[in-house]
This record gives sequence, structure tokens and C-alpha cells, in this order.
Amino acid sequence: MILTDSAISQLQNRADQCANYLLDSKSVLCISHIDADGLTSAAIATQAIQRANIPLETAFSKRLGEPELKQLTKTDHETILFTDFGSGQIEKIIEYSEKGNFNPIICDHHQPSIAPSSNSHTLIDLDFHLNPLLFEIDGASELSGAGTCYFLARALESGSVDNRDLASLAVVGAIGDMQARDKGLIGPNKIIAQEGVDKGVLDIKLDLAFYGKQTRPLPKLLEYSSEFGIPSISNNPSGSIRFLKNLDIDVRENGKWKFWVDLSHSDKKAIVNELVKHAISRGLSIDKISSFISPVYELTQELSGTALREATEFSTILNATARYGRPDVGLSICLGNRNKSLTRAKNLLAVHRKNLAEGIGLLNREGVVMEENFQWFHAQDKIRDTIVGIVAGMVLGMDGTDPNKPIFAFAKTEEGDLKVSSRGTPILVKNGLNLSEVMRISAEHVGGEGGGHDIAAGATIPLQTEKLFLEQIKTTLELQLYNSSS
Ligand code: C5P
Ligand code: C5P
Ligand code: ZN
Repeated sequence: MILTDSAISQLQNRADQCANYLLDSKSVLCISHIDADGLTSAAIATQAIQRANIPLETAFSKRLGEPELKQLTKTDHETILFTDFGSGQIEKIIEYSEKGNFNPIICDHHQPSIAPSSNSHTLIDLDFHLNPLLFEIDGASELSGAGTCYFLARALESGSVDNRDLASLAVVGAIGDMQARDKGLIGPNKIIAQEGVDKGVLDIKLDLAFYGKQTRPLPKLLEYSSEFGIPSISNNPSGSIRFLKNLDIDVRENGKWKFWVDLSHSDKKAIVNELVKHAISRGLSIDKISSFISPVYELTQELSGTALREATEFSTILNATARYGRPDVGLSICLGNRNKSLTRAKNLLAVHRKNLAEGIGLLNREGVVMEENFQWFHAQDKIRDTIVGIVAGMVLGMDGTDPNKPIFAFAKTEEGDLKVSSRGTPILVKNGLNLSEVMRISAEHVGGEGGGHDIAAGATIPLQTEKLFLEQIKTTLELQLYNSSS
């Protein structure tokens, strides 16, 4: 949508309303989702609530189904603030709130389970629901959960409190949720990033878009550029080293490879020029080549050359904690603690990287099952359910997959059911794809629950319901893609 001032001011009004509820609360339980956006959402809300002197506890949950909500009714806290989830479960949350179990506030960007314009009596009191989608702002690309919490944080300011320093965490959340486009963050995300720059906590510059500029030695930085598909460099260790050795630049120092952040501006420029020349000579598309350079978001309070300096690497570290059962470590880092928390996170990151590499290796060996309008794979218990969605997103578009069809991935969970993750592309969404709806309808069809965003969604379903689930996916997809083309 075209961002209007009116959409932003409506979002701000709703944030004010939610802030007032929080300020009237004796105590708050903030419960959040276990990924980079969920952690940064919780960290922003936690700090803003503490600065407003409201007693608070912060907790995390892998999902927000019936059992988790039931558990939450036991809380002693007067108010529960749901961050980075809750909109998809709003009907159930209203039920519990009407029974007097708790006062809810929802600060989320997922598709709500009921139409916001419905006249149903359960919708009368929705002023505790802060979600960009209610104001025609896209929750999959224009505002993340953390960004939504940032609006709440700004609304909680009073006196000398200035919460704009939290903008850097909001940017990490948006980047972690893959909301940046080639030209960087858009919509309210972009406004937040600018507030971070004004406050001095963020630096935005045009730079090489490759992942790992802070912490990967140059040959690894080039080799792992698989999303750009540069012939004889991406996924090619010896080709990457050859490319670097042929440059007229000191790419080594004291016998070791340099890192991108160690290079002078002119050396960086020279490498980019050579990369572009190399890519043109190998016939890489202009679109791909122009995506080599993009806005890069750096956290100015973090040391250069560390995994927390750039928003992309920061968000990976967070995913490596919460998706492995240690959201406390990720939250601690977001709250500014280092030493022990960072050491723990780095150890978890090594495991996370290894698991992602193994997951991609499995897909390269076994491939996906190709259907007429989608593709899928079943990882069984070979990929953790908490990261199967990341793997699905990474392999979509790689050799052996079709970049023009959505991908669905199954994995068994520790709880004894099945996790399904799905990922699409902006073009498919433009053509009518809404994965949140596909996952919700297909999951409900087999007795599970699902939801998310149009471009990325998930579900939990009972074991052995894959076949029925896949049939329902096919039908729902046909309707979505047929309706849009008719
Ligand atoms: O639960 P939450 O909204 O925080 O997570 C969004 C998920 O959707 C992330 O795992 C993110 O990687 C994925 N996503 C994606 N492509 C997009 C937007 C989001 O894979 N364009
Ligand atoms: O788990 P996965 O990364 O595949 O999730 C993709 C998106 O779908 C995330 O934004 C997640 O919060 C959302 N989701 C959901 N309901 C579920 C499962 C996932 O809203 N039952
Ligand atoms: Zn999110």
C-alpha cells in the first residue's frame, strides 16, 4: 500500500490506547515468540515498560495454541502483553479475557484470525489490538513485530523518557523477519530506522549486501554468497580464493585473510567493481548484479567486526538462541548484557550454522517433490521443527527447486506432532498467494492450527495427516491463484 500519514497516525492512536492500558496495569506479563523478531519485540516492550515503572515479567513461547493460552490463565499478572503473536489467536484470547482470566494487549503483525471490520459482538472492544494490518500497513514487509512494539514504546514515553534508542532493536527484528527489500526497509520500518539514525544508535550506508561482512574472512564472505549465484564464486571455495588473489589489493594481513570491515573504502569499491565485471562477463542478470549493493544497517553502539554490529548478523545470533530453547540468552543480549550471554550465544550460533548447512545438504541430496502449483519436502526428524522454515526459505530458488512456486516443509516436533512451514515470493503474493490463509484452512481441515503472513506462514498438525493436508493446500492454492488471474 502507499503509506499515508493517516495510516501512521491511526497506528499511533492505537498505540496510545494500548499504552494507556499498560499504564493502568498493576503488573504485566509480556509473552513473546521465539525468533529474532519475537526476541527484539520482547526486549523493546520490556525496556519501555520498565522505563514507565510498571512491574513486569517477560516470558517466551514456541507457539500460542490452546494449551499455552490455558497455561497463561494461571498468571497472577493483571495484564498479558502478547508480542509478535496473538493476532492469529485473538478470538481465543478474547474468550479468556471475557472470562476474567487476564486483560490482554496484543502487539503483533501477523494476519488476525477475524476480520477487523466484522460487526460481531466479540469485536466491540478491540482497542487493545495493535497490528499494522488493521491500518492497511503490510505486516510482512512494512512493519515487523518489533517495529509494532517500537510504536508502543514511543507511546509509553513520558517526562524525559526517550525510547528512540530502541529503534536499533526494531530494525534487527525487521531484518530478522526478512522485511528488507533490495532498496532496504520500507514504510514505517524505514521511518523507525531514520529515528534510530537521528538518535545516533544506527548507521545506514550503501554497502555490499553479502551476509557476514563483520565476521567472515573474505574468501568465506564470497563463497557463501549463494543467494546471488555468482558463477565460479558462490559455493566455490577455490574460485573465491582465485578471485581474491587476482585482485591488485592487499586482501591478507599478517598471514591471515582480512574481513570486509577491515578494508579501506577504496579497496571495497575496487572489489565491488571487479565483482560486477566478473558477474557481467559470466552472464549474471542485471537484477542480480544490482542487488550486490543495498542499504546496510549498523548498530553504532556495537564494536565493528563483531556479530552484533550489523543487523543481519545480530538477527542470526538471536535466532540461534531462542530457536534452540534459550530465549533468555537472546533477550539478555538485546538488553545489553555481553560477556557470558554472548559466549553462550556464539556457541549456539555454531550449532545453528551447522544445522542449517546440514538441512540444506539434505535438500540438495534428496530434493523436493514437485506438484503442479507448489513444491514440498518432508524432513521427518532430520531438521529441527524450529528451523525448518528457515531452511525452506533458503532453498527456495536454489537448484532443484522452482522459484515460481511456493514451498512447504514438514518436520516432526518434540511434542509428537508435525510442524509445517511455508515460504513464497513477492511475485506470487502479487498474484494472489496468501500462505497464512492456506496454512490456516489446511491445518483446520486436519485438526491443527496455522497462520502467519501472506509470504511466510506455519502450522502445527497431527502426525500422519500430511496427505490430507497436501490435498487441501492444492485446493486452496488453486482458488487463490485462479481467482487472481480471472
Ligand atoms: O513470526 P514472525 O513474523 O516473526 O516470522 C516471520 C517469518 O517469515 C520469518 O521466519 C521470516 O524469515 C519469514 N519471512 C520470509 N520472507 C519474507 C518475509 C518473512 O521468509 N519476505
Ligand atoms: O515457523 P515458521 O518460520 O514457518 O513461521 C512462519 C510464520 O508463520 C511466522 O511468522 C510464524 O509466527 C507464523 N506462524 C503462525 N502460526 C503457526 C505457525 C507459524 O502464525 N501456527
Ligand atoms: Zn515477527
